[in-house]
Amino acid sequence: MDNRPIGVFDSGIGGLTVLKEIAEQLPGEDVVYFGDTARIPYGSRSKETVIRYFLQSARFLLTKNIKAIVIACNTASAMAMEEAQKEFDIPIIGVIEPGAKAAVAATKNAKIGVIGTKGTINSQSYQKTIRRLLPSAEIIGVACPLFVPIVEEGWENSDVAFMVARHYLLELKEHNIDSIVLGCTHYPALRYTIDKVFDGKVNLINPAYETAKVVKAMLKEKNMLSSKLDDGKHCFYVSDDPESFKRVGGNILKNEIEQIEKVTIEEL
Ligand code: DGL
Repeated sequence: MDNRPIGVFDSGIGGLTVLKEIAEQLPGEDVVYFGDTARIPYGSRSKETVIRYFLQSARFLLTKNIKAIVIACNTASAMAMEEAQKEFDIPIIGVIEPGAKAAVAATKNAKIGVIGTKGTINSQSYQKTIRRLLPSAEIIGVACPLFVPIVEEGWENSDVAFMVARHYLLELKEHNIDSIVLGCTHYPALRYTIDKVFDGKVNLINPAYETAKVVKAMLKEKNMLSSKLDDGKHCFYVSDDPESFKRVGGNILKNEIEQIEKVTIEEL
C-alpha cells in the first residue's frame, strides 16, 4: 500500500478530463495536478521546448512526494516520454500507449484515425505505437488545431464545431476508418459532434478513460494502491491565473476546485 498522491501533469486545463477518470476509477487516491497554464499551448511548440517545459513541470510535481506521474497531455506524452523515463525513477504513464491499445482492440477493418495537435500528429507517436501493435493497420493522422479553442470557448456542440469537424475529418471518412483516437485532452468534449459527422458509425477512443484504467492496473500490480477509505484529496497548481482555472475547471470536474495555488515553474 502507498498513500502518497498521484501526480497528474497537463499543459493546462484539458488534463482534468484525465483527472476526472482517475477520480472515478480510483476514488481513494490523492492527486496533485499541475497545469502549465502560463505556457499553454504545447501543441504548436517544438519537441525541444515541450521536453524542457514538461521536465520542469514534472520536477515540481516531484517536490510533492508523488508516487507516480500521469502525463495527461497528449503532446507531452508524444514528445517527452523517453526523457521522462530517463530522468525519473517513479512509474510514468502517458496517454499514447493506452489510447493506441484501445484503438487496436476496437477496430474491425484495421483502419484507424488519430486526431490531435500538430505536435502530437507530427511526432508520429500514436501512429508508430498502433503499427507496433497491429502491423497491418492503415493509420491516418489529422491535426485539428481549431478544436482546442472551440472547446475552451464552450462551443463543442455548436454548428461551428460541426462545420470545422466535418472539414478536418473528411479524409478519415473517405478512407472508411472505423475507429478514431481522440488524441488530445480537449477532444472527448467534441465526441457528440464527431459522432454526428460519422453518422454514429465510428468507434471513438478516449485515451483519458483508457489511461485511468492503466494507472489502476499498474498501482494494483505494484501493490501501490492507497489504503485510504475516504475520498482522495485533490490539490491543484497552475503557472498562471488560478481564478480562471478554478472557474472553467470546476465545470469540467462538476465539482468545486478548492485547493489551488500559482507556482513559478521556469527555474526548475
Ligand atoms: N493538452 C494538450 C494535448 O493534449 C492540448 C493543449 C495544448 O496544445 O497544450 O495535446
